Amino acid sequence: MNEILPVTDAVTDTPVKATPALPDAQTVTEVTHWTDKLFSFRCTRPASLRFRSGEFVMIGLMNDPDPKTGKVKPLLRAYSIASPSWDEEMEFYSIKVENGPLTSRLQHIKVGDEVILRPKPVGTLVHDALIPGKRIWFFATGTGFAPFASLLREPQTYEDYEEVIITHTCRTAGELTYGRELIESLKDDELLNEVIGEGFWKKIKYYPTTTREESPKMGRITDLINSGEAYKDLDVTPLCPDNDRAMICGNMAFNLELKAMLEEAGLEEGANSKPAQYVVEKAFLD
Ligand code: A2P
Repeated sequence: MNEILPVTDAVTDTPVKATPALPDAQTVTEVTHWTDKLFSFRCTRPASLRFRSGEFVMIGLMNDPDPKTGKVKPLLRAYSIASPSWDEEMEFYSIKVENGPLTSRLQHIKVGDEVILRPKPVGTLVHDALIPGKRIWFFATGTGFAPFASLLREPQTYEDYEEVIITHTCRTAGELTYGRELIESLKDDELLNEVIGEGFWKKIKYYPTTTREESPKMGRITDLINSGEAYKDLDVTPLCPDNDRAMICGNMAFNLELKAMLEEAGLEEGANSKPAQYVVEKAFLD
């Protein structure tokens, strides 16, 4: 990518917004590194972009010029939007893959840089794909937390459900930090407190677990549900098709295993065109 440095106003010495030079360019406004393998960033939002909380878009950077033709092409990947639909900026949560074509470069972005963001949101982890229920379960592993970072900040989540259960399984405790801090911050979320009412966050039950590093709760969520331990810890009744709706986002093996468990419990998979009781999306990796 041609690095666009923040332009400085010579008189005031305050940075002014760089002029977008790439197709569909957006300017990075914030970057946070959570671990050596995870980071999140925020960028400007295209004025015309409308999306539903839980959807994803294609984002990326310009590739290096083709040695033969000299042409530069964009390198894009699907990324869940981690910010809610009402936010004036966009947020993304990403893994850093050492030799990953995109993330090996994307991890070095800085405030004022540009990213490409194709304004065509799609996805199945949306409220429209579910029929009414009492509880909603958000099941995530790793960066699969991203669409739930959007949905947990979406007022409709609390309007539609009496209880919101979010499970997040990661290898290490540090990988839980982005999600944990986001959930803690909800208590002070002005919009949600105003629209849903103070104390709305008491609807949330957060269940973080780790598999390869010591933490207060260890184990895969799939095993913890199968053994009944998760229900006991959360003080909830087992999954049932009458009360429960669910969204799944994680690695492929996790998605398939949980999907089978939900089907076994009697829940049916939904889609935008045919809402039902649960929906699945894979966490996109480089
Ligand atoms: P584990 O360490 O036992 O493989 P990854 O980083 O490989 O995407 O995994 C993220 C988290 O998801 C890890 O804690 C991993 O546990 C867990 N995981 C992987 N596969 C499954 C599965 N089939 N069911 C439940 N959890 C899984």
